Amino acid sequence: MADKKRGMFITFEGGEGTGKSTQVRMLCEAFAEAGITAIATREPGGTPEAERIRDLLVQRDGGDYDALTEALLLFAGRREHVVKKIIPALEKGEWVVSDRFADSTRAMQGDGMGLNKQVIENLYGMTAGDLKPDLTIVLDIDPVEGLARSAQKTQSTQNKRVAQEDRYERMSVDFHRRLRQGFLNIAETDPQRCIVIDAAQTPEAVHKQVVDAVSQRLNVSLKAVKYG
Ligand SMILES: Nc1ncnc2c1ncn2[C@@H]1O[C@H](COP(=O)(O)OP(=O)(O)OP(=O)(O)O)[C@@H](O)[C@H]1O
Ligand SMILES: [Mg+2]
Repeated sequence: MADKKRGMFITFEGGEGTGKSTQVRMLCEAFAEAGITAIATREPGGTPEAERIRDLLVQRDGGDYDALTEALLLFAGRREHVVKKIIPALEKGEWVVSDRFADSTRAMQGDGMGLNKQVIENLYGMTAGDLKPDLTIVLDIDPVEGLARSAQKTQSTQNKRVAQEDRYERMSVDFHRRLRQGFLNIAETDPQRCIVIDAAQTPEAVHKQVVDAVSQRLNVSLKAVKYG
């Protein structure tokens, strides 16, 4: 069988309430309109086993872990996600759009919790090997604004599990400021892979910039879709 062209791997990163999930949804709609098969996935999670690990990390009563323990849990889930879902999809020629990936561990457990960066890279090598996103979109906003958006979202949901996915949201604003800087540093260090977009704009304006970045960098022709 002739090899199908490998799909592209796109990740969205950034702090809480920056609009990652909204933008993943809109981008996948734009792919569908353009006839590109794309799957939306997320971290922590993405497979049934990794979603169970997700609960330990994001649920309010998930636990209280040392930074390395947290990173080990995240990379255990990431390993499942990479080998069972991301790589098989890319090999089938599907595009994969992930709501968070390894940069979140670099920023959260690295910059946020002070875990040694080389330890994180070693875990990355062990669990994800050569896999690297083709494009990473970092959504950037003042954490106070982002946290306010997230709080509004959790208050308005009827789903109790979603409402209690706030273990990280409950951490200090200082922690969230370190995360923001961490994401910006990653983007600055790897400009070939990353682009930073101002997330304080409307969802449509952010989406338009996402569509432009994906079109230019990954050589496809996409049109923006409507929000909502
Ligand atoms: N550009 C925007 N302007 C204003 N509100 C927005 C924008 N994008 C998303 N929102 C709203 O803010 C809330 C958070 O958005 P979303 O869930 O997409 O962010 P997120 O980055 O995935 O958050 P989390 O880190 O909590 O998963 C939602 O209620 C969403 O409707
Ligand atoms: Mg989200």
